[in-house]
Amino acid sequence: MSAAGPWTATVLTLFPEMFPGSLGHSLAGKALAAERVRIETIQIRDFATDRHASVDDSPFGGGAGLVMRPDVIDSALRSVVMSDRAKRSGVTEGSDRPILYLSPRGTPLTQARVIALAEGPGPILLCGRYEGVDQRVLDAWAMEEVSLGDYVLSGGEPAALVLLDACIRLLPGVMGNEDTTAEESFSHGLLEYPHYTRPADWAGREVPPVLLSGNHAEIARWRQAQAEAITRARRPDLMRAFEARSVPARK
Ligand code: ADE
Repeated sequence: MSAAGPWTATVLTLFPEMFPGSLGHSLAGKALAAERVRIETIQIRDFATDRHASVDDSPFGGGAGLVMRPDVIDSALRSVVMSDRAKRSGVTEGSDRPILYLSPRGTPLTQARVIALAEGPGPILLCGRYEGVDQRVLDAWAMEEVSLGDYVLSGGEPAALVLLDACIRLLPGVMGNEDTTAEESFSHGLLEYPHYTRPADWAGREVPPVLLSGNHAEIARWRQAQAEAITRARRPDLMRAFEARSVPARK
């Protein structure tokens, strides 16, 4: 919690009823109930100006689908920024919150970006539908385009839920066990080593004996070797980056 209140995400969407969705449960649900986190939604359609309340139109140049109008999105964003300014009385500059547009065209989301977003005041997220959003409003607001991966979702909303989940679990006091986040996948640039619990022998499959040895140094070495082997097999891109960081640069 900062002087300006809890970490707050503001989601611009045509489907505000999709929020908090899955974030109303489990860890995020508890954080919302305890008001450690706020998720505000803004109905983009409320900013339409014509009598049909249209938010989209056919693309210039032809083609299938509809494109979200820049003027309507601009008005919705202005309302968020004005209300941010009003909350920080005396501040006349724009919002200090990052504005993200969720799109398969964006830069892939990483744990590093999630950590930075969780450390800030909370993002403004624009969720598109249809074929996308008029490029001019993305440019005018210098929006950061973020993708969850190389596949196409039906809209930005499920992507926004995932991004928010990843941020909220990192907020102070939400997870309870800070060690869990320090050890997990990506925190050291590697995928996680495998985990085992009771029973020690399940359906003829045994737990790796080193884990029952009580030798903590051996266990740590085994886990590191497993993490490196799994990362090398599944994500050679991450392994190359890890090795480049671990080998000191030579002149
Ligand atoms: N909207 C549609 N597909 C998406 C994706 N892969 N990532 C983020 N936003 C999206």
